[in-house]
Amino acid sequence: MVMFFPEPRRGIMDISPYVGGESAIPGVDRVIKLSSNEGALGASPLAVEAYRRAAGDLHRYPDGGCARLRQAIAARHDLDPTRIVCGAGSDELIGLLCHAYAGSGDEVVYSQYGFLMYAIYAKSAGATPVTAPETNLTANVDALLAAVTPRTRVMFLANPNNPTGTYLPAGEVWRLRRSLPENVLLVIDAAYAEFVERDDYSPGVDLVDASSGNTVMTRTFSKIHALGGLRLGWAYCPSVIADVLNRVRSPFNVNSAAQEAGAAAIADAPFTEMARAHNNIWLPWLGQALEALGLEVVPSVCNFLLVQFPNQPHSATAADRFLQSRGIIARRVAGYGLPDALRITIGREDEMRATVAALAEFLG
Ligand SMILES: Cc1ncc(COP(=O)(O)O)c(C=O)c1O
Repeated sequence: MVMFFPEPRRGIMDISPYVGGESAIPGVDRVIKLSSNEGALGASPLAVEAYRRAAGDLHRYPDGGCARLRQAIAARHDLDPTRIVCGAGSDELIGLLCHAYAGSGDEVVYSQYGFLMYAIYAKSAGATPVTAPETNLTANVDALLAAVTPRTRVMFLANPNNPTGTYLPAGEVWRLRRSLPENVLLVIDAAYAEFVERDDYSPGVDLVDASSGNTVMTRTFSKIHALGGLRLGWAYCPSVIADVLNRVRSPFNVNSAAQEAGAAAIADAPFTEMARAHNNIWLPWLGQALEALGLEVVPSVCNFLLVQFPNQPHSATAADRFLQSRGIIARRVAGYGLPDALRITIGREDEMRATVAALAEFLG
């Protein structure tokens, strides 16, 4: 008998499922997890308290419009709350933007080492992902523009980018927007914005405000606010795009505990400042310590470093194995086309010292 099965839409089976950073090593009880760019200090105690308080109301549906959370985000960043849309992680918002603006026959452009989820969501929407070459592991505006065709509907720019840690100055992002066709949606993914300490950087609020309804900025609570486990992100949009996202999102896409904890986290400016200050110490410390070991480190403005291991027998695979033997989990980035590199998240002081000691031992 011939069997027929429902078939997913074209493109779905071309998706390689996203593999997150590992979190366990068989046989090791206490690992040092530096594989997912989570906050080194954990979440704000005020956010944890708010999360616990939310337990009393678990039988209630969440506020589908995230009103209090949007107010808290707007107050912190001086934005119009009606133009903020919250999501279950910025991942969800990236996916919704792909599905709302791109489909079969359309193209979604991003840079060579851009965040992997752009391709996954483009394909799940039936669109074709198109990459533009980078220069020195940094997005190249001219290459991005050259990748645009009449089929391009969406362009993603992670600024700064994961896994490279590099960024484009605001002037370059403005040049990109000015040169893009007006009908191409530019999504500036500023997941790591809070860590950047450069005068020529902008997360993109100014560009969203100046654009004629075709530019969005996405942000996350998973990095500096260290709430990755709750899945919470937000988009700052022109009104027309906020309207589109509010039509396509699930009615209760952000759970109530995430809303409460997120509002507390974003209001806790001293804790955010402490997390930033921690990164400002340990990001350069780790970079210098690894360079002193003879390793090449990509200059990063984020809470992680991309470290190159091009030489045998000290390959990235061997380094990863050695680190794991010492209970340390870094991130392989071969899936990004970077087989000779590891990405290492900035952790606590003891974790950073243990990582450098282990790599010193590895390199002999
Ligand atoms: C550049 C970038 N964008 C978006 C995300 C997604 O973040 P989340 O879905 O946790 O908000 C990540 C997570 O690693 C990221 O690195």
